[in-house]
This record gives sequence, C-alpha cells and structure tokens, in this order.
Amino acid sequence: MRYNLRNTMALAFVLARVATLPAMAGDAQAGNDVFKTECAECHSVKEGRNKKGPSLFGVVGRKAATLPDYDYSDALRGQTTWVWTPEQLHTYLSQPASHANPGTRMKYDGLSDPKQLDDLISYLGTLH
Ligand code: HEC
Repeated sequence: MRYNLRNTMALAFVLARVATLPAMAGDAQAGNDVFKTECAECHSVKEGRNKKGPSLFGVVGRKAATLPDYDYSDALRGQTTWVWTPEQLHTYLSQPASHANPGTRMKYDGLSDPKQLDDLISYLGTLH
C-alpha cells in the first residue's frame, strides 16, 4: 500500500515536470512557421521520411544519429553522448552546424533569434 502511494507520487512528479516543459519553451504554432522557412528544405517531420537531412519526427529525446535508414556523417555518428534534448537542440541550432559539429553534412548557419529558436524547439517537441 505504502509502496503504491510512493510510486503514484513519483509518477505525478514526473508528469508535472513533463507538463511544465512546453510552458518553459516557446509557441509551437509559431515554431511551425519557423520550421517551414528554416528547416523544411532539408527535413521532413513525417516518420521515416528522410530528405537531404534525416526525418525529425520524434527528434526531441532521441539520441543523435540513430535513425536506422539514414546515412549520417561520421561527424554526427561520432557524437555518441548527444541526446536531442531541448538544451542540446538550442546549443546546436543557435550557431552554424559546422561549428557545433565540425565535419557535419548539415549546411545551416544557425538561428540567431532566441524567440524563434524557442518556438521552433517547442514545435519539434510536438512531433510524436
Ligand atoms: C541545407 C539542409 C539543412 C537545413 C536547412 C537544416 N538541416 Fe538539419 N540536417 C541536415 C543534414 C544533411 C543532417 C545530417 C547531418 C550529418 O549526418 O552530419 C541534419 C541533421 C539534423 C539533426 C540531427 C538528427 C539526428 O537524427 O541525429 C537535427 C536535430 C537537425 N538536423 C535539425 C535541424 C533543424 C531544426 C533545422 C532548421 C532550423 C535544420 N536541421 C536545418 C540538413 C539540413
């Protein structure tokens, strides 16, 4: 009985934390527009649909370079400790990809507007 209560409380705690994440980030609706102008040329949000870059379906929380059907660069494959958390995405996308990960095939100069970046990452978090 007591064990169950503790589990329930732990679960409630986790759920509460997850629920606050989108609130901390930006406006997913606006982020959809940012995605269209900045990323859609090379990325699809459909599961299993790779373009020049890998599908970004479910990217938030995914380990870097782990889609089985995409041919990643050695530079990205080498980032074995990277997980695409909102923080990691923030660091990665706020600067030229060639700085964040020298040798990457992603030719992107970075998004300097912090609001657009927050909105975008919020949008990416909805792709499940
Ligand atoms: C000019 C094409 C291009 C644009 C624009 C671009 N990307 Fe990429 N992206 C790529 C390529 C190519 C890769 C694979 C990189 C590698 O293997 O080194 C990639 C990889 C990624 C990854 C790693 C995915 C994984 O499975 O590990 C993320 C995350 C990502 N891009 C996000 C974005 C976002 C968000 C934007 C828009 C702000 C964006 N990219 C814009 C081409 C692009």
